[in-house]
Amino acid sequence: MSQSAVRMTGIVKRFPGVVANDGVDLEIRAGEVHALLGENGAGKSTLSNILTGLYRPDEGTVEVDGEQRVFSSPRDALEAGIGMVHQHFRLVATFTVAENVVLGESGGSLFMNQDEVATRVRELSDRYGLAVDPSARIWQLSVGEQQRVEILKVLYRGAKVLILDEPTAVLTPIEARSLFATLRAMADEGRSVIFISHKLGEVMSVSDRVTVLRGGRTVGTVNTSETSTRGLASMMVGRSVEFERVVRDNPADTSVTVLRVDEISANDDRGRASLHDISLTVGKGEIVGVAGVAGNGQRELAEVISGMRASTSGRISVGDELVKSGKARSAIARGIAHVPEDRLHTGLAASHSVEDNLALKNYRTSTISKFRLLKRRAIREQATALVERYDVKTPNTTTPVRLLSGGNVQKVLLAREFSALPKVLIAASPTRGLDVGAIEAVRERLVAAANEGVGVLLISEDLDEIMSLADRILVMYEGRILDDVPAEGADRERIGLTMGGSNVQEVAK
Ligand SMILES: Nc1ncnc2c1ncn2[C@@H]1O[C@H](COP(=O)(O)OP(=O)(O)OP(=O)(O)O)[C@@H](O)[C@H]1O
Ligand SMILES: [Mg+2]
Repeated sequence: MSQSAVRMTGIVKRFPGVVANDGVDLEIRAGEVHALLGENGAGKSTLSNILTGLYRPDEGTVEVDGEQRVFSSPRDALEAGIGMVHQHFRLVATFTVAENVVLGESGGSLFMNQDEVATRVRELSDRYGLAVDPSARIWQLSVGEQQRVEILKVLYRGAKVLILDEPTAVLTPIEARSLFATLRAMADEGRSVIFISHKLGEVMSVSDRVTVLRGGRTVGTVNTSETSTRGLASMMVGRSVEFERVVRDNPADTSVTVLRVDEISANDDRGRASLHDISLTVGKGEIVGVAGVAGNGQRELAEVISGMRASTSGRISVGDELVKSGKARSAIARGIAHVPEDRLHTGLAASHSVEDNLALKNYRTSTISKFRLLKRRAIREQATALVERYDVKTPNTTTPVRLLSGGNVQKVLLAREFSALPKVLIAASPTRGLDVGAIEAVRERLVAAANEGVGVLLISEDLDEIMSLADRILVMYEGRILDDVPAEGADRERIGLTMGGSNVQEVAK
């Protein structure tokens, strides 16, 4: 029997109004991939933050290789061989990939030979299939690419215990599979991997053991080979949940076009052409899924439609009204709502309260801006109602959004966007990082919006999500739409291959 690399016993961590960890036990063996599973707010990130020295526990002990340790900083933990890939990125936006990878490494400095660093980063990238240009600056990268940098950073430092907080949330199935091979190889070398994910299928395929948390407590630890996705789901939420193709009470009316995108081209942040003559329409009440591997122009497409990025050519209209290129206000005025992939930076003001964030978009509408005064009371009442309706777990409405768990941050954003009563909703990975219960709730909201006639453009790397919700599926690859098929009876394999850039002829073979 292999020895335990990490043993956490009776961990308690309290925050004002919340007990995030309420006596958690976790034992991680050397040479295993150990999955940590639990609903949004169950306490997974908090536990990881304790193990990596970001938080001090109020009670409980942490042992590494049989020795009791108290970490006072992530650097401390890293020196003991514990490294973390965070759920919310911690990269320096203006630095290059290589600089970010080197930053904070003991003995590393920015004055190291940049070519050497770039070469090593490139080697690691190649070896682990984490494609990213070492000389690119972080702000120029997509969320998926930024996450690769976070993973590279920890790999570069050779951590013995590697914690990945939802690492696959922005990866494609193919990328995820290659990451799993990496994780497996690391475990075979005697390292330990703590893998946090909401995707039960992933947990089943990659982990040796699983510990389930619920409400800040350990529900139990099981051998993966002795459980199933169903078993894990019911441990997690106390019931079993399954996704099926959603039946709509009010089908799409494609004779009415709510969103028209006409031959749109646009550049990415680095000035390279990233959208090439994209044309698409979304009908009244239609859910159009955009499938594709992250980084193929989806982010630019969402931004251009929502007026956050100027197009270089083409037109966008809602009904028969044009949306001004690069003018978010024009997009909002036309009735376009946007749930961006990067919630904490683009979508919300992270350090502001839940109630201010909920009010941000509609401060010009009636109830709240009477006499052009922002009325605190009205804002608070509206926020309280939305928090309840969208089941946001927060101590109260004045809590800063950055203190909420990932899933709850998303709920705040969705609540705000839906409450603006849009005609068109651009949803980019709206369920990424959410637990099964929250995913169900978000999907129900999307379908309810479509039933009411909202045209939804659902951009997602989760093919299951698109297959179960969309009326029609577009496949995006390298800034172009390669395929446009009805979702009913769509051929998964063909879509998967097109996502990977295989052309339709190849697929037909
Ligand atoms: N710094 C903080 N201050 C106050 N409350 C916090 C803080 N960090 C986490 N919490 C609260 O502690 C609870 C556990 O949060 P945590 O982020 O650990 O959950 P999680 O299991 O990682 O959830 P998710 O799957 O949504 O990421 C939540 O109720 C959260 O709002
Ligand atoms: Mg978390």
